[in-house]
Amino acid sequence: MFRTGGELLQKAWENGYAIGAFNTNNLEITKSIVKAAVNERAPFIFQVSPSAAKYAGIHFLTAINLIGETETSAAGVPCVLHLDHGLAYHDIVGALRAGFSSVMIDGSKHPFEENVTLTMKIVELAHEANVSVEAELGRLVGVEDEISVTEREASMTDPEKAREFVERTGVDSLAVSIGNAHGWYKGKPQLDFDRLKAINEVAGIPLVLHGGSGIPDEDIKKAISLGIAKINIDTEIRDAFKRGVAGFIEQNPDIFDPRKIMTPAMDEMAKVVASKMRLFGSAGRAEEVAEALRRAA
Ligand code: G3H
Ligand code: 13P
Ligand code: ZN
Repeated sequence: MFRTGGELLQKAWENGYAIGAFNTNNLEITKSIVKAAVNERAPFIFQVSPSAAKYAGIHFLTAINLIGETETSAAGVPCVLHLDHGLAYHDIVGALRAGFSSVMIDGSKHPFEENVTLTMKIVELAHEANVSVEAELGRLVGVEDEISVTEREASMTDPEKAREFVERTGVDSLAVSIGNAHGWYKGKPQLDFDRLKAINEVAGIPLVLHGGSGIPDEDIKKAISLGIAKINIDTEIRDAFKRGVAGFIEQNPDIFDPRKIMTPAMDEMAKVVASKMRLFGSAGRAEEVAEALRRAA
């Protein structure tokens, strides 16, 4: 059984570590995540974006991840199936119907009041189905966007608005914009830790860091100490996949069996996922989380 995001994130938030949320689009990525989670004994999140669902078919991805869950839960490792960046009501309904245990409604591109209204509607629907909800306040700026310091500030999460947003919507976790971005960063990421601290002091729920790829280890640890309890990783997995495939083809130009080509890619991806689980402090937490979930049942 997939656990809800709320259940895993609350434990992580209370105990000063973060759960890794890894984007998957296919069998090879899911198998790599499972291998890392079982080896590291780390509770984790499979996450699927609407464009991944469009690419592979949401039911194919649900089925693959369900088999993954069967393997991890047999090894005592709890996991969640989460919709990443659901943008509209129909994305959420699709995920609920497919059996996801957690959803993100990303209303960050809307004005504050519209984001509140949309998020409230999704919370009501998802909680009815015992599915937890992540929302986003503040906009993530693209790595390619040329913006001024004032625009950068304006796109970030305002702590006072975050307090009001959480109180009015009843969300389970909140994705913040503190200088983080999707994809590879140009130069060293400049995370606004004072802002994160201020958000954490008033929000009262686990916080989520998108754009986790390429953030230095010491910044990740600091973010976790300031309330980040879920960290999203996609780009570094994609990069590992490409590295594995490209390296193999370069060395074995005559081999065209996909199974042979994919195996080193899976090894590379599993290494990345395992290293994030150790960095986030979720490695070795499976037993205590599974025990806490049993006691709460
Ligand atoms: O934040 C976005 C995730 O990396 C998913 O990307 O929409 O290309 O699947 P995607
Ligand atoms: P990266 O691709 O930068 O790791 O970000 C992933 C993410 O935030 C998915 O929602
Ligand atoms: Zn994201």
